[in-house]
Amino acid sequence: MPAPADPALDADDRRRVADALRYLGRDLHHRSFGVSAERRELLWQEMDRCLALAERIGGEADGAVARQPSEPPALEPGRGAVLITGASSGIGAALARELAPSLAGGEAPLVLTARRRQRLEALAAELTARHGIAVQTIDADLARPGGATALLEQLERRGVAVHTLVNNAGFGLRGTYEQVAWAEAAAMLQLMVVACAELCHALLPAMQRAGSGRIVNVASLAGLVPGLPGSTLYAACKAFLIHFSQSLALENRQRGVRVMALCPGYVRSEFHAVLGVEERIRERLPGLLWMDADELARRTLAALDGSRTVVVPGGVNRLLATLARGLPEQATAALSTAFSRRYRQG
Ligand SMILES: NC(=O)c1ccc[n+]([C@@H]2O[C@H](COP(=O)([O-])OP(=O)(O)OC[C@H]3O[C@@H](n4cnc5c(N)ncnc54)[C@H](OP(=O)(O)O)[C@@H]3O)[C@@H](O)[C@H]2O)c1
Repeated sequence: MPAPADPALDADDRRRVADALRYLGRDLHHRSFGVSAERRELLWQEMDRCLALAERIGGEADGAVARQPSEPPALEPGRGAVLITGASSGIGAALARELAPSLAGGEAPLVLTARRRQRLEALAAELTARHGIAVQTIDADLARPGGATALLEQLERRGVAVHTLVNNAGFGLRGTYEQVAWAEAAAMLQLMVVACAELCHALLPAMQRAGSGRIVNVASLAGLVPGLPGSTLYAACKAFLIHFSQSLALENRQRGVRVMALCPGYVRSEFHAVLGVEERIRERLPGLLWMDADELARRTLAALDGSRTVVVPGGVNRLLATLARGLPEQATAALSTAFSRRYRQG
């Protein structure tokens, strides 16, 4: 006789348990470095058990209810919310300030998300007071597996249909690839690749149905340089976003959805402080290479009205992008190595 189903656990519960077990398994893996071989063996056994159980429970949940992506709220042509990730500081906050006036007088909200809730609420209050617009905040950690899914669930629960998605959240890492702890590298991939791709995947169909929508993936000049020592994973994530956006733009050209990869150079924000190189880079990097976040936001909105997919804001940055693409590989390798020593490593 088959075991009776546990009435306390539905398919969603089982998926959550499976996600938690996967997370635990990965955590055990991270903890297994720098310990004795005996301890490592024990941790790996536990990790295998967690992951096997996660697959079983997750598989049962998927079998019980076929994974049906829930229908996103309907989006009226030309209307809908603006969602900005990484809106608690820097470029994301500047884009929110720049986009806010265009939402005045409409019903669609501006949705700000990041981890620091107080910052988001302060910005929301400022924008509501200044422009009389509805601003919603959702605190979400998009570097956590399942973080983007949780954000999408929140949007659905609130009945928010997204017309403009700005995938902006990001951070840098210091050191050569093997020096970076895997947990940090995995978080970067999750935040700057997986979450961006998942949000596009979930929100695009409603834009296509409405024949109107906008996706801005905030990449970087670093993604256009063929090889940047000290920024290995970061530059690769940004290169992914550029190529991803280019194909997505082509797929959606006739469907009313505008896709753009924004490739800024150096921008004054909290980015370099978080990275721990702020003082050095501010001292050493020539002023003409810097751009204010507000100016970048203005240029971004202007570019959004145009048709370019890969947008490099600023004359100096465009020159650097042209050099990165046009110089022979040996020349760019020598330049990027010297650059990295001076500003990132040395
Ligand atoms: N500054 C530059 O020179 C520069 C140049 C080219 C491209 N970019 C790109 O521009 C984007 C914005 O960076 P920024 O310069 O504005 O830096 P920033 O001031 O440090 O802002 C980064 C934003 O990302 C959010 N974020 C970080 N980790 C997160 C996580 N795990 N989950 C959710 N949100 C997270 C942060 O919010 P919380 O900490 O509150 O979560 C913050 O709002 C990034 O993608 C960056 O790679 C920056």
